[in-house]
Amino acid sequence: MVNIAVLVSGGGTNLQAILDAQARGDIHNGRVSVVVSSNDKAYALERAKQAGVPGVVRRKKDYASGAEYCRALAQFLQEQDIGLIVLAGFMTVLDEEFCKNFENRIINVHPSLIPSFCGDGFYGLHVHEAALEKGVKVTGATVHFVNAITDGGPIIAQKAVAVEPDDTPEILQKRVMAQAEHILLPRAVSLFCEGKLSVSDSGIVSISE
Ligand code: GAR
Repeated sequence: MVNIAVLVSGGGTNLQAILDAQARGDIHNGRVSVVVSSNDKAYALERAKQAGVPGVVRRKKDYASGAEYCRALAQFLQEQDIGLIVLAGFMTVLDEEFCKNFENRIINVHPSLIPSFCGDGFYGLHVHEAALEKGVKVTGATVHFVNAITDGGPIIAQKAVAVEPDDTPEILQKRVMAQAEHILLPRAVSLFCEGKLSVSDSGIVSISE
């Protein structure tokens, strides 16, 4: 059984999708054992509590530097015997040492079809604002392994979502979450826990069903 840590910063709808999948029995060979929030006011913490999962707060500003924050977080996760880290709307950047420590064991969900609208500065609602500004007719979500390059790690799964003429960033965000993120992320978590994801030397993910 893989111990899963879900790292959050905000509303936690992706966390909820994982918890719901777990309650349905759709996460095979894994369970969410802790939720770590970078924000003590995140509603995601309430979702964890309601599901009976321990929630802890780890804020970067409580540490002397980003490197110290990452080291302390890595140590905490190792003590908890975490096998998979899921970034579900986690808005704090993790450094290279952290990413190396957990190579191919960190999964992130990003609200666009990478390599579009990704990298530094593209997070949350900003991603949908940029997609609407560009006038793309199709957007979507990507689930990928995390490395030191922001949104640059091996891609596990992607799903396209239509952009509608009257979309606002908020409306588009909700559609991308419902039609893509909340479906892709729990599925990728389960595939990981079942040992069905492998990454080639050149960074290509293959899925054995
Ligand atoms: C989600 O749309 C997620 O893809 C995005 O933040 C939102 C968090 O929502 N993450 C990023 O932009 C990371 N680059 P949630 O707290 O309701 O899951």
